[in-house]
Amino acid sequence: MKVFSQKEPILKEIEDLKARHFTIGLVPTMGALHEGHLELVKKALTDNDYVIVSIFVNPTQFDNNDDLKKYPRTLNDDVVLLKTVSKDNIVIYAPTVNDIYEGNTVSQKFDFDGLEFEMEGKFRQGHFDGVGTIVKRFFDIIKPHNAYFGEKDFQQLQIIRKLVEKHQIPVNIVGCKIHREATGLAMSSRNTRLKPAYKNAAPFIYKTLTTAKTLFGTKSANKVTEWVEKEFAKHKLLQLEYFIIADVDTLKLVKRKSPDNYGGKKSYRAFIAVYADDIRLIDNIALN
Ligand code: PAF
Repeated sequence: MKVFSQKEPILKEIEDLKARHFTIGLVPTMGALHEGHLELVKKALTDNDYVIVSIFVNPTQFDNNDDLKKYPRTLNDDVVLLKTVSKDNIVIYAPTVNDIYEGNTVSQKFDFDGLEFEMEGKFRQGHFDGVGTIVKRFFDIIKPHNAYFGEKDFQQLQIIRKLVEKHQIPVNIVGCKIHREATGLAMSSRNTRLKPAYKNAAPFIYKTLTTAKTLFGTKSANKVTEWVEKEFAKHKLLQLEYFIIADVDTLKLVKRKSPDNYGGKKSYRAFIAVYADDIRLIDNIALN
């Protein structure tokens, strides 16, 4: 398996693959790979001849320096894990900060038609400019045919679709279902940092989301939100940051279901962010 840490050699590799008319899928990651990432890579391998997995903890998308410092960096383990999926058709690009930012570690400013101001955007200043900057950079360098993103970061997925549309980037964006642990907890690199008591408590997040989905069948978005807030207020370990029911296209908060819903026009999703000790966990669920 080839592992590149510099732009020039990977550019040569990509040129060579493209000259041989191979299709390329990109799976951007920040490393600390888990089963959820491997599912993205497997999907990408079924759709493409070669898959480039980028492993890069992108400094410009962190609004909290402590979070950036503590983010797990496990390149050797990541390589071993990826080899279990394919030894020949995966290429790893694990660049240095300098290789990407060339001494100027700042974000480009983007206009994502307001998607960037909802939910995560309210709680993580500048986060989506950082994500847009790095993903666009990878698209510019790699020029993949397809790129794969998990629905766990659903807002990120919609923003990347918007980035591609607005900047007319010729890449097909593929959204992939959330991969969950047996307990229902959405897989995340952050889960490895949960202390045992919090790890045991965390499946409450998905359990609450599934009940919220059932309630949404008969109750308004407002009522469901009130119920979720009360459930978390009673919880001893988990602290709710937000629970929001939103329109999938605009990501804007929904108070009441639109009558369009019955014509099948509107899609809603519930989004949640929770603190388990100092670890911030997010999840979401399709409601219709
Ligand atoms: O979802 C992530 O892991 C990151 O936001 C991404 C897309 C790799 C950009 O750094």
